[in-house]
Amino acid sequence: MSTNSIDSLLHESRRFPPTAEFTAGAIAKPELYDEAKADRVGFWADQARELLHWHKPFTQTLDWSSAPFAQWFADGELNVAYNCLDRHVEAGNGDRVAIHWEGEPGDSRSITYAELTAEVKRAANVLAGLGIRQGDRVAVYMPVVPEAVVAMLAIARLGAVHSVVFGGFSSESLRSRIDDASAKLVITADGGWRKGKVFPLKAAVDGALANGTSTVEHVLVVKRGENEVEWTEGRDLWWHDEVGKAEPEHEAQGFEAENPLFILYTSGTTGKPKGILHSSGGYLTQVASTHRNVFDLHPETDVYWCTADVGWITGHSYVVYGPLANGATQVMYEGTPDTPHPGRWWELIQKYKVSIFYTAPTAIRSFMKLGREIPDAFDLSSIRVLGSVGEPINPEAWIWYRDVIGAGTAPIVDTWWQTETGGIMISALPGITTLKPGSAQVPIPGVKIDILGEDGTRVDPPQGGLLVVSEPWPAMLRGIWGDPERFKETYWSRFSKGDVWKYFAGDGAHVDSDGDIVLLGRVDDVMNVSGHRLSTQEIESALVSHPIVAEAAVVGAADEATGQAVVAFVILRSDQEKAQTVEEASTLLRAHVAQQIGAIARPRQVFVVAELPKTRSGKIMRRLLQDVAEGRELGDTTTLTDSSVMQIITDKLK
Ligand code: PRX
Repeated sequence: MSTNSIDSLLHESRRFPPTAEFTAGAIAKPELYDEAKADRVGFWADQARELLHWHKPFTQTLDWSSAPFAQWFADGELNVAYNCLDRHVEAGNGDRVAIHWEGEPGDSRSITYAELTAEVKRAANVLAGLGIRQGDRVAVYMPVVPEAVVAMLAIARLGAVHSVVFGGFSSESLRSRIDDASAKLVITADGGWRKGKVFPLKAAVDGALANGTSTVEHVLVVKRGENEVEWTEGRDLWWHDEVGKAEPEHEAQGFEAENPLFILYTSGTTGKPKGILHSSGGYLTQVASTHRNVFDLHPETDVYWCTADVGWITGHSYVVYGPLANGATQVMYEGTPDTPHPGRWWELIQKYKVSIFYTAPTAIRSFMKLGREIPDAFDLSSIRVLGSVGEPINPEAWIWYRDVIGAGTAPIVDTWWQTETGGIMISALPGITTLKPGSAQVPIPGVKIDILGEDGTRVDPPQGGLLVVSEPWPAMLRGIWGDPERFKETYWSRFSKGDVWKYFAGDGAHVDSDGDIVLLGRVDDVMNVSGHRLSTQEIESALVSHPIVAEAAVVGAADEATGQAVVAFVILRSDQEKAQTVEEASTLLRAHVAQQIGAIARPRQVFVVAELPKTRSGKIMRRLLQDVAEGRELGDTTTLTDSSVMQIITDKLK
């Protein structure tokens, strides 16, 4: 593909260099690239020393001798929570607000670093009292409330491992995650606010633990939703009772840099979500460094807001660890952007004078649709940096974001990364890079990215290929919980040769003649719906677990609002065909998927079909189903066992 055609793909050829004023005040200087280029590993060692407090300094930086299992700063010791809390208080910044929290119903709390530190110390004492020790796993299933952050940091403070499960996941999904990690404790809330209603969380925890075989000994419950909850005496404890009476002092002990920090489950190409494992020193180094440099964070003056839920990696890295390690002041908001009115986000930016704002393209597109009058009614003049994450941002949305939210001047950083990478990998640096709408642009200093052809050779610009990370990076995943073979197979088997290890990200990308990277989406059976990762197979498994379904195939169909949408094709069991109307079956199955996995996985459409298109070897040709779902002319059907199948499907759907 030529550069011209990339431009036409992007429908936008304007470029946006940083203003001289921004560059003059910017945190990141161009020398960062030179330093990292001259000595990549040394660059990260400098970042680790400069940005973090080490209980015991490290002398080794990277140990890659057991590749693809990396060790960073292995002989060093640190306490992640101390780095996010106590040291800011000790440096005299205890009165700085850490979190301006805003509940959906309009209640709010501003919590200083001193207060947050005190709360985490008490919570750490509670957890220790419940027997939580280094290495133990604790599941966190919470709304976006300050206690979610307190819980994560208290777990980290003890050297234990959190597994945060997004509050929108079902009881079933929670159960499989609790079981996979053998969690000892669950921290949850009675409920949380969403779209003006309370969604129950404790009830889902009760359901997840109902079979009685769980490793969970206690459930700590934050009071938030005011809804009624069932209570299991001896197992369930109120957070406010326990934290309220806990000892206030807790000394943070140093743990080795490779001590596991968290597990976060994410969808892959198979039915079962993978527990992505992250460790402490390397992870904290990269998230602190990128949070500072990519967003140009001036912690004394900026007010930062990342709209992600703490249940996703963006919430881990850029709500909890990056911002708090950097001593930032941030906004956290519990609810949805349109409750109680469609200007709620902009009202919050105005109220707290947010200067750095980080969100997902899906949200931007939905605001675009509502019209600029809504944000225009608020004073957004505090904004000076905008960020995007989770999916490719189309140039129209990019320009709208800059013009309407960023007053036509704020730089936009389009950040590419993954649950597995832990931190940002590709992004502009706002005081340095000339911005190109629709392109994530360049690897951050210290990260080496290549775009390879199917044969593993580097493609010459301007060509497309598969995105790989060619050198280990500090925040890289350390494995898949309990499954080292799957870790090697999933990420390292495709392009590694001998002792040259290359991480395959699962994304397609183009590199243009300026060397800028344009992400093209997943090349595997992973869908991206509103910036959330879903597996086609996981949803197919959920569908066939319903007694009326004989077979199912799921595709991600292009969707203007959500990027992709889940579209399912199902064959009903023969005895069910007559009993169910197509509409009944479709309604039932959409609800079933939501109940099995969570509302985010609910298919946009479920089509009842008589056959699925299969190759002679029995593989479902999802590509053809995708053509149907997107309303396109069918592609090549010659490899099908029975090429009339597609005709039957399309005729029926018409
Ligand atoms: O396909 C890429 C897409 O999101 C995937 C990672 O999803 P997840 O692990 O849930 O993490 C999302 C938040 C970091 C990637 O494989 N993706 C993420 N950011 C971008 C993106 N695609 C294009 N541009 C981005 N900026």
